[in-house]
Amino acid sequence: MKPLNVAIVGATGLVGLEFITILEERNFPIDKLYPFASDNSLGLTVTYKNKEIDVIPLNEKEIEKHPVDLALFSAGAGVALDFAKHFVNAGAIVVDNSSAFRMDDDIPLVVPEVNGGILKTTKSKIIANPNCSTIQLVPFLQMIEELFGIKKVVVSTYQSVSGAGKKGIEELRSQISALFSFHEVKPEVFLQRIAFNLIPQIGPFYEDGYCEEEVKMINESRKILSMPKLDIDVTTVRVPTFYSHAETVWFELEKECSINEIHRRIKENKEMVLMDDIEQMLYPTLIDSSGRNEVFIGRLRKGREHKNYLSAWVVADNVRKGAAYNAIRIAETIFGDTND
Ligand SMILES: NC(=O)c1ccc[n+]([C@@H]2O[C@H](COP(=O)([O-])OP(=O)(O)OC[C@H]3O[C@@H](n4cnc5c(N)ncnc54)[C@H](OP(=O)(O)O)[C@@H]3O)[C@@H](O)[C@H]2O)c1
Repeated sequence: MKPLNVAIVGATGLVGLEFITILEERNFPIDKLYPFASDNSLGLTVTYKNKEIDVIPLNEKEIEKHPVDLALFSAGAGVALDFAKHFVNAGAIVVDNSSAFRMDDDIPLVVPEVNGGILKTTKSKIIANPNCSTIQLVPFLQMIEELFGIKKVVVSTYQSVSGAGKKGIEELRSQISALFSFHEVKPEVFLQRIAFNLIPQIGPFYEDGYCEEEVKMINESRKILSMPKLDIDVTTVRVPTFYSHAETVWFELEKECSINEIHRRIKENKEMVLMDDIEQMLYPTLIDSSGRNEVFIGRLRKGREHKNYLSAWVVADNVRKGAAYNAIRIAETIFGDTND
């Protein structure tokens, strides 16, 4: 694969910086790397392969001056809607991490190990990266659907503050420090105090009582799995941890499951790690998944009275597996694998 010119839009953010780390780690063939961010980052640099590269302000002129083959976007939906088209018009493929294009019928929404095949045939120059909580969920849903058939699935999430970007990290850090000094805290990024608290709302509510993150997970899971009628219900909760998201996943299945069979399939899957041995008190925690590309699965158990029920605990690094790594795997699938 010939080296590409690559733009990172939102290069100073949590996901943007993780893009740079993973591109370097995977030795992604890059000729020129152009880090774009807002005017607030003028004068800043990012480090790629021990070189400092100046951050470029995002505007049409600079996009024209820096033609690229691939633009990795992680700057929010508004920026994607305003600027993705300019990169496409200049000849680039755009992989976008925001919600801007996810539910557009003409734009593929991709988790490579689940529905990456679509990338071989699509004519779309924009590919959407799913929500972080969806990315870690759908590979496991697909596996269980193939093995036993899903009648119904109910998910609860435990989502760390990094899901809200660098300002989310700063809010938890500053609230913890203020509270330990007996100071009052005022929520700014999150809707309630996040330090030493749980918030059962991520994003605004719809009239039916569901919040935006819950609706994203429901709609995106159905689209990626090509299961428009999937019976899925979700409750999303922001928790006061810094990195990685956890999910409890409860299924009603078409037939009784075999935990041994699930173990076997997880062990064969290089994008998953099995940590499931209660005798050893072995199950994944957020710390196990932090900085890793895989989805970690444990606490697998059948229903006590209903053998067609199955419960599981699914954990992944939201910034890496749930964002940057997935987007780079999409790019590798389009331009040619560099690591397989
Ligand atoms: N964090 C996660 O776990 C996660 C997971 C999946 C998807 N995502 C999505 O990825 C995107 C970025 O998330 P993040 O966590 O990296 O956020 P973040 O830490 O807040 O970073 C946002 C980035 O976007 C840039 N930006 C903001 N407004 C801009 C503008 N008008 N023009 C150019 N650049 C602009 C920022 O530049 P400045 O530094 O100059 O302001 C910064 O580089 C969001 O769409 C988010 O929903 C995040």
